[in-house]
Amino acid sequence: MAAPCAAFRFRGTTAAVVPAGADGVRLDLAVDAAFPKVAPSQFFMLRRSDGGGVLLGRPFSVYLDRTGANGRTLSFLLKVMGPGTRGLSELKVGMSVDLVGPLGQGFPAVAPGERLSCVAGGVGIATFPLVFEAALAAGARAQDLTLCFGAARKEFLYEVDRYRDYGIRVRIATDDGSAGQRGTALDLLREDCKNALLRPHKVFACGPERMLEAVVRFAAEERLDAYLSLETRMGCGTGVCNACAVPVKPASNGGWPVAKACREGPVFRACDLTLEEAHQL
Ligand SMILES: Cc1cc2nc3c(=O)[nH]c(=O)nc-3n(C[C@H](O)[C@H](O)[C@H](O)COP(=O)(O)OP(=O)(O)OC[C@H]3O[C@@H](n4cnc5c(N)ncnc54)[C@H](O)[C@@H]3O)c2cc1C
Ligand code: FES
Repeated sequence: MAAPCAAFRFRGTTAAVVPAGADGVRLDLAVDAAFPKVAPSQFFMLRRSDGGGVLLGRPFSVYLDRTGANGRTLSFLLKVMGPGTRGLSELKVGMSVDLVGPLGQGFPAVAPGERLSCVAGGVGIATFPLVFEAALAAGARAQDLTLCFGAARKEFLYEVDRYRDYGIRVRIATDDGSAGQRGTALDLLREDCKNALLRPHKVFACGPERMLEAVVRFAAEERLDAYLSLETRMGCGTGVCNACAVPVKPASNGGWPVAKACREGPVFRACDLTLEEAHQL
């Protein structure tokens, strides 16, 4: 079981809110030099400092972490779903945001020479830029890293050109064929697994629950070493409220059949999950 997280409360200043896709924004927050280091696929609970109409912060993966002439900027990619995301998407430059984090346990490291496939559905893409950057910085070859990015339609392929700049293999699928091939992100992984030179040593996935359930089944059939980042609904984000229960195999969790996504996750090994039972909780 993971150690209790050392989360801290910070304040960021809105530097930009840039439209992304048909229903999203990229929120750039200027943070000060004391802001902690963030590991790939960690997340923060975000809330407008003026409340913005919601009581609780909402969890978001760190999308980009950049330091430049103007200091450090943390970016989040938000799909507008309800009041929390709407309030954040309507922030104006200079307005403050409260951040609690960095939270959670991320994806495992990728060793040089290992082939990695990241399967992203829609806004699930947000967790992957830092994963690719960390893998490349640790010596992975760009041709060993594949992004299988799927969405319902091309307007939900958020900031897709950004990922090509890494020099990695970027494969696209849409349900209606409006960009890339017609089908799902998992179809792209299925194809790669038929070729011994492309079959990944590790698979990381983030996206809608149905996609993740399909990845769990496929990984079991194909004996793939797969890890999922779950976007479970959360209350506190810090292990206190029990809102984020995830059914797991007890042997993977110190004998307990339920893990907390905010503390033991959000990344879980696919073979440790019993997602089909999640609906019965
Ligand atoms: C670790 C983690 C990382 C996340 N990273 C991102 C990210 O980078 N970008 C992003 O856009 N979103 C991300 N999410 C999801 C995001 O937290 C929710 O979309 C957000 O909390 C919705 O808040 P809201 O007030 O706008 O909508 P709400 O009013 O809370 O919900 C609006 C509608 O969306 C549904 N909904 C809300 N949350 C979820 C969810 N987690 N899964 C499925 N349906 C949901 C509700 O049932 C409701 O129908 C992440 C979630 C987790 C747990
Ligand atoms: S969100 Fe409160 S315990 Fe995980």
